[in-house]
Amino acid sequence: MNKNRTILITSCKGGVGKSTIAANLGFALAKQGQKTLIIDFDLGNRSLDLILGWENHVLYDFCDIALERIGADKAIIPDKRSPNLFFCPAPAQYKGELDEKLVKTAIENIHKAHTFDFILIDTSGGADKSVFLSAPLCQEAIIVTSQQPISIRAAEKSGVILDEYGIGEQYLVINCFGDRPRSANRMSIIEIIDATRTPIIGVVPYEQRLMLRQEQSILAGEVTEKSRATNASAAFNNIAKRLLCERVPLFCGFKRTNRKKLIKY
Ligand SMILES: Nc1ncnc2c1ncn2[C@@H]1O[C@H](COP(=O)(O)OP(=O)(O)OP(=O)(O)O)[C@@H](O)[C@H]1O
Ligand SMILES: [Mg+2]
Repeated sequence: MNKNRTILITSCKGGVGKSTIAANLGFALAKQGQKTLIIDFDLGNRSLDLILGWENHVLYDFCDIALERIGADKAIIPDKRSPNLFFCPAPAQYKGELDEKLVKTAIENIHKAHTFDFILIDTSGGADKSVFLSAPLCQEAIIVTSQQPISIRAAEKSGVILDEYGIGEQYLVINCFGDRPRSANRMSIIEIIDATRTPIIGVVPYEQRLMLRQEQSILAGEVTEKSRATNASAAFNNIAKRLLCERVPLFCGFKRTNRKKLIKY
């Protein structure tokens, strides 16, 4: 039986790592045998085609499915990294064609045609149409924050908006954790959980390598001859496992020296 879960990835703040989390978590779920579709629903500025390396292969997009210009499978790209991973691009230029009903029907048709275990919806930063159109059909949401006060405030605001849509299952990911320089008012993990009142599902460390490899469309979990598994890749695997209800220690799989440092951070 497929799990049929649709998860919104959101934050009221731009640039906190939503698309990074969507791409890498999608791959981690796929590696764990979960048939996963990542939808780029950033209607203003799509980016997942670049992050996943499909920018030269995009013919159709989510709008084409929603407006029934094509069938539910034509705009879904099977990703070469895993037989379980699929990607649906956002339109290059959104002209305001979508409404809640069209988006809901499109997602239902996609689920019916492909029986996905997980659909991850990557939204744009802010509380805009990208969230308002997709939140009504989600039962679960991942709120992404960094340790910066402005992004934590945005996470609190996201939680309030998701409550308004009746999304009961909200999980927090703290991204870019431990980046430097550490300012005096940078909050700890416990303080962030307290401030956002959202249960944590993962901590992704700041990793320059992750960013540099992302520019070459290489995901954290891709192990090549030259690259080793990193803490960030362990973090994404841990989040995937927790979504599958496994109990996993917060920094499981991180290098021991880093683990000690991060716990104190
Ligand atoms: N854990 C991390 N370590 C290092 N760099 C990161 C990390 N997470 C994200 N980044 C970098 O931060 C930048 C913004 O990330 P990303 O595009 O995923 O954010 P976003 O929230 O989707 O932005 P937007 O709101 O514009 O859609 C990118 O350059 C990305 O490589
Ligand atoms: Mg993004």
